Amino acid sequence: MSASAQVVPPGAAARAAVPRHVAVVMDGNGRWARQRFMPRFFGHKAGVDALVRAVNLFADRGVEYLTVFAFSSENWKRPSEEVSGLMSLVLVAVSKYLTKLAGDGVRIRIVGDRSAVSDKLRQAWAQAEELTRANSRITLAVAFNYGGRWDVVQACRQALAEGVAPADFDEAYLSSRMSLAFAPDPDLFIRTGGEMRMSNFMLWQAAYSELFFTECLWPDFGTAEIDAALEAYAQRDRRFGAIRPPVVVDGD
Ligand code: FPP
Repeated sequence: MSASAQVVPPGAAARAAVPRHVAVVMDGNGRWARQRFMPRFFGHKAGVDALVRAVNLFADRGVEYLTVFAFSSENWKRPSEEVSGLMSLVLVAVSKYLTKLAGDGVRIRIVGDRSAVSDKLRQAWAQAEELTRANSRITLAVAFNYGGRWDVVQACRQALAEGVAPADFDEAYLSSRMSLAFAPDPDLFIRTGGEMRMSNFMLWQAAYSELFFTECLWPDFGTAEIDAALEAYAQRDRRFGAIRPPVVVDGD
């Protein structure tokens, strides 16, 4: 090593500037509405607008997949007016924004248990997926009636139905049957609204995701917050359980 050699901190070389896949728990719509003395539904409506803005902002920054938690398997426990309000909001959102998102190069995919939603909603999802099938700027995966545990169970059920031998059943096999098998695991997991938990979102896929929690309520999550999250991610040292020896850079 020459006198001017520098030791670069471990991990510096492994910093990936832009996450390929970002997962988001869009929390805080209700509080955002309450702060404005408005009903919760008003917050969810603003949440949809924030999502349409966010998908384009993430795409502009090079993110390839954005997966958002729109309705969890547990959200059925909310008051029935809120549940039906969210269902109709999705239908309105599809008719209001589908053409725009399709024109923006967004591919839409829906993940979750479709068996419990109305025929109308199933048709709207199918239409959104079909219309955007050829788009490749960014994939927006909408997790609807989704739960991380549900996903593991449905993947195991497929494996059992396929009669897989225990010796052939491994992580790769299970991953290939998960509802997000079309995407790489999320690099960055964001939760807005100040809570610091995963709430049964992408439990299998987020094993090595970098976590980012912000007080910002989802309808306010815009350019500055997206850039702050991506900047925080760029500073992280991802080791996936390994250790990294210091990188030696020789000076002249
Ligand atoms: C959490 O905020 C938010 C939700 C349960 C729903 C998020 C849904 C959307 C933004 C609409 C998605 C629509 C489409 C078309 C994808 P909260 O109600 O728990 O807020 P709080 O914690 O402040 O009460």
